[in-house]
Amino acid sequence: MRFDVFTIFPSMFTGFLNESILKRAQQAGLIQIALHDIRAWATDKHRTVDDTPYGGGPGMVMMAPPIVHAVESVLGDALATTPIVILSPSGELFTQQVARELVQYPRLALICGRYEGIDDRVRIILQARELSIGDYVLTGGELAAAVVIDVVSRLVPGVIDPESLAEESHSSGLLEYPQYTRPPIFRGLAVPEILLSGHHAKIAEWRRMMALCRTKARRPELLERASLTPRDHQLLQQCPPDPFAHLGSIVKETTERGSSATD
Ligand code: ADE
Repeated sequence: MRFDVFTIFPSMFTGFLNESILKRAQQAGLIQIALHDIRAWATDKHRTVDDTPYGGGPGMVMMAPPIVHAVESVLGDALATTPIVILSPSGELFTQQVARELVQYPRLALICGRYEGIDDRVRIILQARELSIGDYVLTGGELAAAVVIDVVSRLVPGVIDPESLAEESHSSGLLEYPQYTRPPIFRGLAVPEILLSGHHAKIAEWRRMMALCRTKARRPELLERASLTPRDHQLLQQCPPDPFAHLGSIVKETTERGSSATD
């Protein structure tokens, strides 16, 4: 899959996208990330890409011509078939479901806004979809575009282990169950015994219950949309009374931050 990113700050992307899983995915040719500096399509000698808003008000608005020309010239024949996304706090919410839609395409164009936003004619002319990564305001769309690239890239076949994709938070519409690894006791907190039992069916049921209970406590609106079995409804009745308490036994009351010198 190829990502074309349109930004006035291409260097913002280099560190983040060139490490770890995304670095390996690029080296393996599974994904390709092309960064395009919108200023290269500005026409005046100062390379201006923004101007004051019509109607007045604070700040600056990104001008339509440089962005439209940049996207048209980079995409060329692929313009008609490539989804074009504008990152903006006023967009529809970017979710795992949207990522699953976007990964169906071989190419994705991402336009990063700065200042008070982008001239709305860009959205109309390019038939772009506006996406927000959450209900907060970033200083620009670059971080949001990096989030979209990260989330979509994980879904490209071969980028990560397919088993982790199936198990993880949000893929089932629920939050993920809690995980533990060695040591078995840390600062007096023991790993829930069931996980050490080797009883796979019981472990699976405990994990399902914890996923349900966490979702109920933290994101109840997700539970309403999830497809639940009659057994899930029974498991929900068994949620621990304090959903934020430790789930294993407490061997020794030394759990406060910084309280134990010996662990
Ligand atoms: N630009 C500024 N804030 C944003 C957000 N929450 N999502 C996407 N783009 C943005």
